Amino acid sequence: MIVLVFAMVCGVYICSICLKQISTTTTAGFLNVQLTERPCEKPNIEPSEVRYVHFPKPISYSRAECACNPVRFFAILSTQRSGSGWFETLLNSHINISSNGEIFSVKVRRSNISSITETLDKIYNLDWLSSASKNECTAAVGLKWMLNQGLMQNHKEIVEYFNTRGVSLIFLFRRNLLRRMISMLANSYDREAKQLNGTHKSHVHSPREAEILAQYKPSINATLLIRDLKQVEDTVAKALQYFNSTRHTIFYYEDVIKNRTVRQTTSTQT
Ligand SMILES: *[C@@H]1O[C@H](CO)[C@@H](O)[C@H](O)[C@H]1NC(C)=O
Ligand SMILES: *[C@@H]1O[C@H](CO)[C@@H](O)[C@H](O)[C@H]1NC(C)=O
Ligand SMILES: *[C@@H]1O[C@H](CO)[C@@H](O)[C@H](O)[C@H]1NC(C)=O
Ligand SMILES: *[C@@H]1O[C@H](CO)[C@@H](O)[C@H](O)[C@H]1NC(C)=O
Ligand SMILES: *[C@@H]1O[C@H](CO)[C@@H](O)[C@H](O)[C@H]1NC(C)=O
Ligand SMILES: *[C@@H]1O[C@H](CO)[C@@H](O)[C@H](O)[C@H]1NC(C)=O
Repeated sequence: MIVLVFAMVCGVYICSICLKQISTTTTAGFLNVQLTERPCEKPNIEPSEVRYVHFPKPISYSRAECACNPVRFFAILSTQRSGSGWFETLLNSHINISSNGEIFSVKVRRSNISSITETLDKIYNLDWLSSASKNECTAAVGLKWMLNQGLMQNHKEIVEYFNTRGVSLIFLFRRNLLRRMISMLANSYDREAKQLNGTHKSHVHSPREAEILAQYKPSINATLLIRDLKQVEDTVAKALQYFNSTRHTIFYYEDVIKNRTVRQTTSTQT
């Protein structure tokens, strides 16, 4: 009887040791699996560039063979009627660039800083699906953001976001603010009048369409003109000041359309 109990105790003891060994080997196996999933190799770039290069892992799909292609984050900060629609079309004609449009024109997305960062996280994680989304080989991803779409009100937190996430900014402004104002007035007139066969068009796509829209001559209240232009100028200056600590570049619409290097690129792509 004693021998039997002894044998049983020994059996239980040996079994527990076996189980321990099995569990240690399984954890070791698990560690091995983790080790094989190496992080992407850093591309050969300047050390100062490293924080602007990312390897997003979208949750809605797999980046497949492009999982280790570096991605850069950008945002185009602009004002309405400053050529940003055209500029964005230009960027999106590149196979590896996704500029997702005026995402914050939808009010609820900019209602507070948490919805703003949530939206940005989704965009920069390559999980934002729009007509501009490219395949898994996107190398630059961003959006177009107007100064009056929550940017100025939440500038402190947004600057912090851009700096910690390594987002590069492209400011796009128009030098001729009077032309911009006329374009604003004409666009808001067309919203009601729908001059092109009953459809409202914010951006024309042919000389014929442009000609029709240009027939409308808005009248401007001269008393308010200088004050209104000054207001735009002040907003632009303030934006540049607020976002001064970010990595940024400033473009003016007039310079971009005049630049022959840019024109050559577009003509070969279309
Ligand atoms: C932020 O806005 C969203 C959408 O309007 C809302 O659901 C959420 O509760 C708000 N969060 C805070 C902290 O106010
Ligand atoms: C651009 O996309 C193409 C095809 O989708 C891909 O083969 C290429 O590696 C991408 N380039 C970069 C720099 O990610
Ligand atoms: C308006 O519609 C007519 C008939 O479909 C077409 O021929 C014309 O080009 C259109 N005009 C514009 C400005 O779209
Ligand atoms: C221009 O605006 C001022 C201030 O709002 C107003 O008093 C004036 O009547 C306006 N002039 C015209 C021609 O509408
Ligand atoms: C941005 O900061 C730099 C250096 O701190 C300063 O020289 C420059 O004037 C600032 N620009 C604006 C628009 O505030
Ligand atoms: C045109 O654009 C290129 C690239 O950004 C720039 O180097 C060049 O100075 C520009 N030329 C003019 C005339 O603005």
